Amino acid sequence: MKTLRPEQTAAEARAVRMLRALANPVRFHLVELLAERKDCTASQLAQALALAPSSLSEHVAILREAGVVQASGDVANQPNNYYCVDPGALDFLAGYLSGLGQRARAWPPLDHTVRMEGTVQIRDATLGDAAAIARIYNQGIEDRVATLETELRSPEERAEWLATHGPRHPVLVAVDDAGTVLGWGSLNVFNPRRAYDHVVDFSLYVAREHRGRGIGDALLGALEDRARLLGYHKMVLAAFPTNAPGKRLYERHGFSLVGIYHEQGMLDGRWVDVMVMEKILG
Ligand SMILES: CC(C)(COP(=O)(O)OP(=O)(O)OC[C@H]1O[C@@H](n2cnc3c(N)ncnc32)[C@H](O)[C@@H]1OP(=O)(O)O)[C@@H](O)C(=O)NCCC(=O)NCCS
Repeated sequence: MKTLRPEQTAAEARAVRMLRALANPVRFHLVELLAERKDCTASQLAQALALAPSSLSEHVAILREAGVVQASGDVANQPNNYYCVDPGALDFLAGYLSGLGQRARAWPPLDHTVRMEGTVQIRDATLGDAAAIARIYNQGIEDRVATLETELRSPEERAEWLATHGPRHPVLVAVDDAGTVLGWGSLNVFNPRRAYDHVVDFSLYVAREHRGRGIGDALLGALEDRARLLGYHKMVLAAFPTNAPGKRLYERHGFSLVGIYHEQGMLDGRWVDVMVMEKILG
């Protein structure tokens, strides 16, 4: 098959595969039916959709290949096989499309331009930023100053992560005049329960060689502005109490200490404390 562009990312390819599979009224209806009924046998589906078994199995095969539908049993085309929709796949597609919408939307008040030694601009991240975001995140992971995460990330994994960040959880990047990404920040789900919808967690990472130039400050300001615009009531973070630049930055932005979890994580065989901070957004 001819690929559209050689640089198509894994996330783009996955979204295109799913959209192709769904761009057929029978298959679309089949997915709606499965989402409604949770699971169905092949016979039940054939009956509900008034399809011949051979036609049904063709449609199901396309949806399975695209990762939209899952089946019980290894033997294909058995009338008693159960089929269900993979909710994670639909969440991925929804997140991917809403990410596109988010990028297409203008955010004029948030087009931060920070004057330092050069000009630094803050904008919404695109899939093209995935490699730079991975590199900067990996520096934070390797430095052991910022996170309990120890698994290094690949550009492909970050592209998937970006694609699933919906409009309420944007990822911002700070870029210089040449377009080089110097740092990134993201608003993250704090807790999926609806009662916590007004609270948002965040991450902030600046490339090693650009720390201490005010980029973290600018990114945090932009994250706060965006959080307000999105209607959040509170921002929270978890960090190491030993992270002096981070602590200084958060305190300067009005975050206050909620408390410290003592010996909360085990990093390289040593207990690590984790501090929790919060800021009510006015
Ligand atoms: C924490 C981090 C995001 C801050 O970004 P930054 O661009 O380096 O920060 P800024 O230059 O905007 O400001 C940092 C503040 O910390 C201060 N600071 C820097 N090094 C410091 C140190 N060793 N001790 C105390 N304060 C320090 C700076 O003086 C500045 O405060 P000021 O403006 O009041 O003088 C960045 O250092 C980083 O990415 N670190 C690794 C990842 C990380 O720790 N992320 C946060 C996870 S919670």
